[in-house]
Amino acid sequence: MNIIEIIDKKRLGNELTYDELNYAFLGYLNKRHEDYQMSSLLMAILINGMTKEETINLTDIFIKSGDIYDLSKVSDKIVDKHSTGGIGDTTTLVVGPIVAALGCYMAKISGRGLGITGGTIDKLESIPKFNVNLNKKEFINNLRNVGFVDCSQTKRLVPLDKIIYNLRNNSGTTESIPLIASSIMSKKIASGANIILIDIKVGSGALIKTKKDAKLLSSWMKEIGKKYNKKVITIISDMNVPLSNSIGNALEVEEAINVLKGSKGRLYEASKEIASLLISMAKNITVEEASELVDEVIKNGKAYKKFIQFVKAQNGDLSKLKIDAKIKVIKSEKTGVLKNIDALKIGQLALKLGAGKINDRETIDYSAGIKLYKEINDKVKKGDILATLYTNKNIKLSNEDVNCFDIK
Ligand code: URA
Repeated sequence: MNIIEIIDKKRLGNELTYDELNYAFLGYLNKRHEDYQMSSLLMAILINGMTKEETINLTDIFIKSGDIYDLSKVSDKIVDKHSTGGIGDTTTLVVGPIVAALGCYMAKISGRGLGITGGTIDKLESIPKFNVNLNKKEFINNLRNVGFVDCSQTKRLVPLDKIIYNLRNNSGTTESIPLIASSIMSKKIASGANIILIDIKVGSGALIKTKKDAKLLSSWMKEIGKKYNKKVITIISDMNVPLSNSIGNALEVEEAINVLKGSKGRLYEASKEIASLLISMAKNITVEEASELVDEVIKNGKAYKKFIQFVKAQNGDLSKLKIDAKIKVIKSEKTGVLKNIDALKIGQLALKLGAGKINDRETIDYSAGIKLYKEINDKVKKGDILATLYTNKNIKLSNEDVNCFDIK
C-alpha cells in the first residue's frame, strides 16, 4: 500500500477500505505523508465523495486518533451542540451558559474558522488569555464546576481532526459532506456527551449549499451516533442571511453577551430553539416548558452570570475584549426595503477584513469584522447606515466587496 495508490483510487471514484483510510489519515498524523499528498486526497474526496461506509470508517479513525472521554461520573445526561458552519453563528456562546444556568451540563469541542465560516475557538480566543487548550482533568473539572466547558482539539483529543481541519481550510476542501460528518462527529463522540444536537446550516453562507446534502448529512450523522450509542438529533436551518448582526470574532462575543443580557433578534431565536431542545431532552420535559425556562434564565441574569463564570474558569479576561479600528461606514445608496443581506458576500468581506485566514502565514485580527444595522424587510432611506466595517488592515475595498445588501 502507498499513498499515491490511495490518491489514485479515490481520484478514480473508488471506495477506500478501512485499512487504506487508516494508512492515509493516520500516516499523515504520524508525518509519514506530505501536506501536498494529503491535500490531493482531500480534493479527490471532495470531488468524488465517499460512501456511507467510508464516512463511518473515517469517523472511527478520527475518534481513535486520540482519547475518548468518559463523563458519566459528572452526569448521565451531558449535552452538546455543533453547527456545520455559517456566518455570525455564535449560538454556542449563548446556548452553553443557558444550559449550565439551568443545572444541565454541556461539554464541547469546537473548531476554528473554516472557509468563510467562523469558528467558536477563534471567537473564544478573541477574549484575552482565554485558554482553549484544556487537558482531560481541566475539561472534566470545568464541566463539573461550571456546567459548560468548550475547548479545541488537542494532541490527545481528536488530534487527527486538528490537523485535517487546518489542511481543509488551507486547501479549499471544506465543503465535503463526508469530511464534515467525520470532523464533527469525531469531536462529539470523543468528548463524551450523550445527547448531541447538530445544527445543519444550509445556504449561501454555509458549507452545505443544498437541502438534499443537508438531509444526507443528517442521516449519516444519526447513523454514526447510533454506532456509538449516542442520541443525535439534527435541525436544518437557513444560512442565506447572517445569523447575527455582528460578524467577526470579538464582535460576535459582544453580540452573544448582548443576547444573554436580553437583546432579541435572529441570534436569540436560533439559540433559544437549540437550548430548548437540549434542555427538554436533558430534563425530560416538553420543548415548550424548556423554552420558558430558557427565557427565565435570560431574564433573571443567571445565563449571563454563567457566561462570566465560564470565561473566568478558562482564564479569559473580558475587560480586555478589543474592538477597534473602524474603517468604513456603508450607507444605503437608495430608498426602499431591505430584501436580502447576502451571507456569502458578508463572509467573504469579513475574511478580507482579517476576521479569518486562508493560510498559516496569516494571523487573525480578532477585532476585525462587520456590524449590521438593518433587519430584512426594514424600510431603508438613502444615506441610512447599513453596516460598519472593522479592520486593522490597510486595504482598499471595491464596490463589489461591499455589495452585500439587496434594497428594492
Ligand atoms: N465544524 C466542524 O467541526 N467541522 C466541519 O467540517 C465543519 C464545521
